[in-house]
Amino acid sequence: MGEVEGDHRGDLTLIPTEEEEERARVDIYKYIFGFVEMAVVKCAIELGIADTIESHGRPISLLELSSDLGCAPHTFHRIMRFLVNRGIFKEIRNEAVEGCLYSQTALSRLLVKSGDRSMASLVLLLSSNPMMASWHGLSARVTGSSAPFEAANGEDIWSYTAANPGHSQLINEAMACHARATVAAILDGCLDVFDGIGTVVDVGGGNGTAMQFLVRGCPSIQGINFDLPYVVSAALICEGVVHIGGDMFDYVPKADAAFLMWILHDWGDDECIQILKKCREAIPENKGKVIIVESVIESKPQKVVKEELELKDLGFFLDMVMMAHTNNGKERTMEEWAYVLGKAGFPRYNVRSINGSACSVIEAFPV
Ligand SMILES: C[S@@+](CC[C@H](N)C(=O)[O-])C[C@H]1O[C@@H](n2cnc3c(N)ncnc32)[C@H](O)[C@@H]1O
Repeated sequence: MGEVEGDHRGDLTLIPTEEEEERARVDIYKYIFGFVEMAVVKCAIELGIADTIESHGRPISLLELSSDLGCAPHTFHRIMRFLVNRGIFKEIRNEAVEGCLYSQTALSRLLVKSGDRSMASLVLLLSSNPMMASWHGLSARVTGSSAPFEAANGEDIWSYTAANPGHSQLINEAMACHARATVAAILDGCLDVFDGIGTVVDVGGGNGTAMQFLVRGCPSIQGINFDLPYVVSAALICEGVVHIGGDMFDYVPKADAAFLMWILHDWGDDECIQILKKCREAIPENKGKVIIVESVIESKPQKVVKEELELKDLGFFLDMVMMAHTNNGKERTMEEWAYVLGKAGFPRYNVRSINGSACSVIEAFPV
């Protein structure tokens, strides 16, 4: 046994205080029950609880809510009790009504199924069977035996999505949630990134939501939404945006700037270098640029001392999602971004954080 030094033994083993031990005995339940919050929020979205309260335009009682949703009040109240306990909906006591009234919170409004602020599809995607099944293979990914999504679903995520139109629609709608919020934040804080740009190609732009919002915010820009043919065939029709189907590993349509949001993190370094080289061929050498919207994670582990999730923690969560759902994808540190950009022929770049988003904007230039 080593010598005791402060709260460490001489061999640097941490000796927890009694208070830390007590905290740990409670904290372990965050992991034992970690899936429960996701499952109940998914249930709330499927039932349409937030949509129903919103459509009433006022707080409503358990009986009104359960009758509108076709639920049995005696079981439904337990779902509501959990959601209120977690702060997702709010309970209002009112003398005039037997029981209580339920009202929306800022959080529950994000669970409404449609609208520019909805995050419902992202919850539904990540809690869907193919995505959840992959998590059982996370340890196998690290021991090197197999890619979790492929082990669980028989093929990699993009082949699976191509063969399953329902899953493809779920991915497109989920990505649109992220695109609406992130493009709005970019237009708000980093609008000058698009100064002097006439055409932008969104590489892997999904159903075209990002280009739709970008062109709405910068009407002088002509948008090209580029994705796999089966994805663009179901894309949104939007003035100022043309859709082109193709494979970014073969070519990228020509434009002044290539925009890549949540694309490169799906791929390993060699694949990213290939994609970025195709983008380099698509933009003018002297005044073109690529605009990458991704996380830039810290290289050193951060000491977690707070209870609440912070935006800068999301990159570490996304990195685990990439491990579970893609074959070689990962979130990157600044050093890792510098490596792929350098190898792809982008010697010059700058990084800007986006207010209210876990993503940063990396502008990279061919000269
Ligand atoms: C994670 S989604 C990102 C969507 C969008 N950029 C966003 O942030 O909302 C990745 C996108 O890459 C597209 N994709 C995958 N492989 C591709 C390929 N070889 N060529 C073009 N697009 C591809 C997928 O269809 C999907 O729309």
